[in-house]
Amino acid sequence: MQISLEGQVALVTGASSGLGHACAEALAAAGAAVVINYNSQREPADALATAIQARGGRAIAVEGDVSDEKAVDALFAEALNAFGRLDILVANSGLQRDAPVGEMTLEEWNKVIQVNLTGQFLCARAALRQFRKQAARPEISRAAGKIIHMSSVHQLIPWAGHVNYAASKGGVDLLMRSLAQEVGEERIRINSVAPGAIRTPINEEATEGDAEKKLLELIPYGRVGDPEDVGNAVVWLASDLSDYVHGTTLFIDGGMSLYPGFRDNG
Ligand code: NAI
Ligand code: BGC
Repeated sequence: MQISLEGQVALVTGASSGLGHACAEALAAAGAAVVINYNSQREPADALATAIQARGGRAIAVEGDVSDEKAVDALFAEALNAFGRLDILVANSGLQRDAPVGEMTLEEWNKVIQVNLTGQFLCARAALRQFRKQAARPEISRAAGKIIHMSSVHQLIPWAGHVNYAASKGGVDLLMRSLAQEVGEERIRINSVAPGAIRTPINEEATEGDAEKKLLELIPYGRVGDPEDVGNAVVWLASDLSDYVHGTTLFIDGGMSLYPGFRDNG
């Protein structure tokens, strides 16, 4: 079955690298016009937009810090200006500032919460306001708008040395579910994806050499994920094939959340 997002507009935050990049590519390949948000890495964002255009797609790269309210408003305004409407938001931007809790600075705590949690709130709110303003087009999409939050297995799995990050993703889970409860009757569909270990710049050190061998002990399926694993799932969640999926987290983790430590223990 072929998934088509023709006629729909998607905005992906943090799409200059890693999972955001893969999501933007996959959404464009499915026919969506794509707004590629970047924070500081303009070159790869522009290059992705150019590559999508060269394949006959529609894409623009737009700067914007998702933790800054004014910047988020400007990002959505530019998206609207370019494509006239918004159908899909992938709130993907996120970062890590790891430290043992006794050494974690308030700045490290605040930065992660501001980008990973407040950023998701600001973008979801902006998308929601736009969904409410524009006419629904049931012939193109049964939902009046779709939001996909980028969470993590660490909305579930505690993560020593990363309390700021795990707290931010735990927050994303209840942000997503509360939002889904609040706006479902408007036929606005809200879900999360929760990746496990996917090879991107955020976890380079953990996915190479001996570290990768250790990491694989935590993945029953026996491989580190590729960004496309997440991009493909996001396309499905953005499409009508998942129209009755609402308020759910889809784990894309090769089984990392199955407590693999219990395979030969306990
Ligand atoms: P990445 O480091 O390649 O991508 C993060 C993106 O967020 C970058 O494009 C960066 O520019 C952007 N970003 C950071 N601060 C921003 C800000 N203030 N405003 C706008 N954009 C900003 O890493 P990756 O892995 O692609 O991460 C993307 C998301 O996926 C994050 O939310 C991360 O928590 C999540 N994730 C990643 C997993 C992995 O194994 N790679 C697993 C589970 C979740
Ligand atoms: C983190 C990655 C980590 C993965 C599995 C993600 O949320 O950003 O660094 O490899 O979870 O632990």
